[in-house]
Amino acid sequence: LIRTYNLALAGFGNVGKEFVRLMLAKRQLLRTQYGIDWKLTGLASRTLGWCADPAGFDASALLEAPGGSPQPGTRVAGLQDWLSKSQASVLFEATSINRETGQPAIDHLRAALEAGAHAISANKGPVVHAYHALRELAAARGRQFLFESAVMDGVPVFSLFPGGLPAVELRGFRGLLNSTSNVVLTEMENGLSFDDAVKKAQQIGVAETDPSNDLEGWDAAVKVTALAIVLMDATLKLGEVERTGIRNLTAEQVRAARAEGKRYKLVCRARKTPAGGVLASVGPELLPLSDPLALLEGATSALQFDLDVFGLSIIEHKPGVVATAYGLLADFIRAVKA
Ligand SMILES: NC(=O)c1ccc[n+]([C@@H]2O[C@H](COP(=O)([O-])OP(=O)(O)OC[C@H]3O[C@@H](n4cnc5c(N)ncnc54)[C@H](OP(=O)(O)O)[C@@H]3O)[C@@H](O)[C@H]2O)c1
Repeated sequence: LIRTYNLALAGFGNVGKEFVRLMLAKRQLLRTQYGIDWKLTGLASRTLGWCADPAGFDASALLEAPGGSPQPGTRVAGLQDWLSKSQASVLFEATSINRETGQPAIDHLRAALEAGAHAISANKGPVVHAYHALRELAAARGRQFLFESAVMDGVPVFSLFPGGLPAVELRGFRGLLNSTSNVVLTEMENGLSFDDAVKKAQQIGVAETDPSNDLEGWDAAVKVTALAIVLMDATLKLGEVERTGIRNLTAEQVRAARAEGKRYKLVCRARKTPAGGVLASVGPELLPLSDPLALLEGATSALQFDLDVFGLSIIEHKPGVVATAYGLLADFIRAVKA
């Protein structure tokens, strides 16, 4: 028996488009292995507005249309109309992050849960600013609030705890979570100036047009905060993460370190304190080459968990945007099969 779910997607940029592409590519597998089919009945972005069609949009045509525009006449007034007209069973939130407030993504997810849909987010803002409230709302409505793709893309870091590792104590973690910084540091080691290394990171599609979010450590701090809140039950605020970016490192410093057999990396850390709190930081660290994190290049990210029963490292090798899309798809299966 195959059950068809109506999907509503907020945000039709890199992640939103890749998600639709992956859902099309895996449609047959979803049907045969999971008994799941889907229709895209809601699509929204700043430029498209709120578009809904209960019959389902032609997803392939949307990917080909300039600007990804649905049929005229499918536009509705706002979020509430959009959710009800699309009769969404699942909302996917893939709009741009607002690191100060997490909005309007929090409103999108809350409205979806209140309307009886599962809420799935690639956006880290709602995890940092509204994790407990959204989790409680989801539980009260018997729906799922999932956000696996928000940190380390498709790697199931959030699903590991407690699902894969019941009754384990997570004492802390450290890792590399920002691709742009890693690419820039590697390119400086290879001879480029800081500015040219940033340009290179932009050319290969790792850094955004405004890379300051990455270079000042904000992106990594947001990820550390999300991980600490969810995995360590921390009441950590983004502003409490001790944060230094890589802007003040010169190419000379980076190359001198390399010549001495060491490497600068932007290291993220979180640790439980004896008083029961969590201390978190993001900053450049000089690592010896014997440190596994020192060996990671380019967009590769990694996390090392300090557990009471063993140590655990996860490396995500050079992920592309399809890795993020996969995180959304995996959450979709988890939500409807829960
Ligand atoms: N790229 C990655 O590899 C990656 C990995 C993990 C998580 N994420 C997260 O995934 C989300 C999407 O990333 P992306 O790379 O796809 O960004 P993007 O290419 O800039 O796309 C963002 C989309 O969100 C829409 N949008 C922005 N603000 C909106 C609002 N207030 N209301 C409705 N729509 C709005 C934009 O509309 P317009 O097109 O009209 O501007 C655009 O369609 C972000 O939260 C990001 O942090 C990304």
